[in-house]
Amino acid sequence: MNTRQRALLPSALGFGVSGPHGTPLIRRADTVRLVHGAFDAGVRVFDTAPAYGAGEAEGRLGLALRGIARDAVFVTTKAGLSSAGLKRRLRDFSPRAIERSVRASLERLDLEGVDGLILHGPSPSELTPELFTRLSGLKASGAFRLLGIAGRGQELDAAIATGRFEIVMAPVHPFAGEQALARLRSARSCGIAVMGIEAAGSGPAPLSWPRSLADLYKLAQSIRSGSGSGPRLAMPGALVDPVQGGLADCVLVTTTRENHLLANIQAVSGHGRCAP
Ligand SMILES: NC(=O)c1ccc[n+]([C@@H]2O[C@H](COP(=O)([O-])OP(=O)(O)OC[C@H]3O[C@@H](n4cnc5c(N)ncnc54)[C@H](OP(=O)(O)O)[C@@H]3O)[C@@H](O)[C@H]2O)c1
Repeated sequence: MNTRQRALLPSALGFGVSGPHGTPLIRRADTVRLVHGAFDAGVRVFDTAPAYGAGEAEGRLGLALRGIARDAVFVTTKAGLSSAGLKRRLRDFSPRAIERSVRASLERLDLEGVDGLILHGPSPSELTPELFTRLSGLKASGAFRLLGIAGRGQELDAAIATGRFEIVMAPVHPFAGEQALARLRSARSCGIAVMGIEAAGSGPAPLSWPRSLADLYKLAQSIRSGSGSGPRLAMPGALVDPVQGGLADCVLVTTTRENHLLANIQAVSGHGRCAP
């Protein structure tokens, strides 16, 4: 694998417009307010996906980004998984579906291109030469700048070995196991930027009594997963190690609460601003 210059991500903390932000459980205006609050405090990385609320989350991020200079933010979205309402997620990594997905995402985001296009969990067999050819065309047309892949396990090895990916999005919690974490360290040393997810642990947070409508989303996730929650680190401290320990270039987290947003920024930056 060639070693290249790793893409610079403009903030160590990223805000994920996902989960409840793709549902009516939180108002659009509140999503926009949180994105603006994050931006004002120095968060520059914003992640979303067409699978989050069947495009609703992308539309909200697009709304929030109006009035923010395009070059002031690093925006990622994904392709390959889609959702329709409450239906199960549908996967399609065919070149035609990926192109269609990217075009629809750009429309919802109201952007000419995103900084990162993340393939949303493809298996190695879905990474076909035809797909890469189509992606090269999309990249050349300005639809995205950097190609990324989201995954959790060994399937990432084959993807990374293709030399095509500039970003890997993967869990960074310590319970992911040494092999998974070593993979991320190795990817970084080869010039691939790592966007960390699930800093506190995989699976739903422990059940707690909902204190807001948006908390119903977490409750539903816990019930749907069926299993109890696995080991977890406390937030916001969980966000610190992946970036300070050099495992990730940026750690992503979503929240529906302003006090959590500020605590996350404080934790990662050591003060109240997540300096770009
Ligand atoms: N590529 C993929 O397949 C994939 C998969 C998962 C996630 N992602 C991306 O990664 C982002 C992060 O996802 P994640 O799974 O790591 O976690 P998450 O979905 O961001 O969940 C974080 C949870 O922690 C809570 N929280 C946030 N800050 C907190 C704080 N300071 N104190 C206590 N609780 C806090 C939030 O609830 P409150 O609303 O109460 O704060 C939320 O329920 C997503 O937003 C998405 O953009 C990508």
